[in-house]
Amino acid sequence: MTAERDQTELLDQTPAGISRASTILRSGGLVAIPTETVYGLAGDARNPAAVKAIFAAKGRPAHNPLIVHVAHMDTATALARLDDTARTLAHHFWPGALTLVAPLRDGHGLAPAVTAGLDTVALRLPAHPAARALLAEFGRPVAAPSANPSGQISPTTAAHVMAGLSGRIAAVLDGGACPVGVESTIIGTDDTGRAVVLRAGGISPEMMAGVLGYLPAPAQSATITAPGQMASHYAPRASVRLNAAKRTGHEVWIGFGPDCTGADFTLSENGDLAQAASQLFAILHKADALGRPIAVAPVPEHDLGLAINDRLRRAAAPRDT
Ligand code: TXA
Ligand code: MG
Repeated sequence: MTAERDQTELLDQTPAGISRASTILRSGGLVAIPTETVYGLAGDARNPAAVKAIFAAKGRPAHNPLIVHVAHMDTATALARLDDTARTLAHHFWPGALTLVAPLRDGHGLAPAVTAGLDTVALRLPAHPAARALLAEFGRPVAAPSANPSGQISPTTAAHVMAGLSGRIAAVLDGGACPVGVESTIIGTDDTGRAVVLRAGGISPEMMAGVLGYLPAPAQSATITAPGQMASHYAPRASVRLNAAKRTGHEVWIGFGPDCTGADFTLSENGDLAQAASQLFAILHKADALGRPIAVAPVPEHDLGLAINDRLRRAAAPRDT
């Protein structure tokens, strides 16, 4: 084990920091990077050893494929066959919080473990300036799952990453708090070419309806799902109770909207779903640190509320450990 792996470097988003991050990626090392959604644990998607190290650092099961991040649309179309629906969505929402699942092209060159043996790949072109600068300087596709130990709360600050992965990765590139705050929306297409939602995220179905002419629905078919969508995920150590209109006992109560006077934390006092999404994981991290059961006020099931409720349901789901 090298000294570099024992002590995780904290890099800033200056040209020097970006350049250091790129050097680490080039040598097969891992760097946690800011994106507009959550921090990602980045490694060279073409380097099998780097990809293996991503799974090891997170303790992630090998059957759960990674998202490949690219700097340009051309790189995406060289890796996978994007159909008309995917191209339309990419045109409107890239760079941004959207991931597209599409069939791999022959000669894609990605390490096989990235896609967990599937014949499709999940692609994203992120918007965060530091992520874009690093992808441009590195010049190769980057595999990056969320930068948290598998199954735990996703990181939206460099401090969250350090708390979960310090000593297990070479560096963290600090790009501040992630503005969207929930992971990207994952979209696949069904047999008829319609977009289906594999994971709710930062781009809402209502936003996509504006360009598609229909509201994309959650995937129904067992053949198109995001394999990583385990029931229990984003799990705090504490128990989580949902749709809690008030606190019971010594619960930490997380409010939403103006009717939550006395809440310990509030996702958004005026009921703004974008603000609630951007604060969700940071508040879950803080609430969990108090070591008491957590209760969360109801959040409406539309727009970004779909992604928020998805994460909350997984946080509340029964776990094995
Ligand atoms: O916003 C995000 O998407 C963040 C940032 C870092 O980009 N990344 C992220 O990665 O959330 P991760 O690994 O935590 O979640 C990726 C999800 C998993 O549920 C995985 O199963 C799914 O993407 N996925 C990856 N490749 C897939 C594929 N070929 N088909 C279907 N689902 C796929
Ligand atoms: Mg994740």
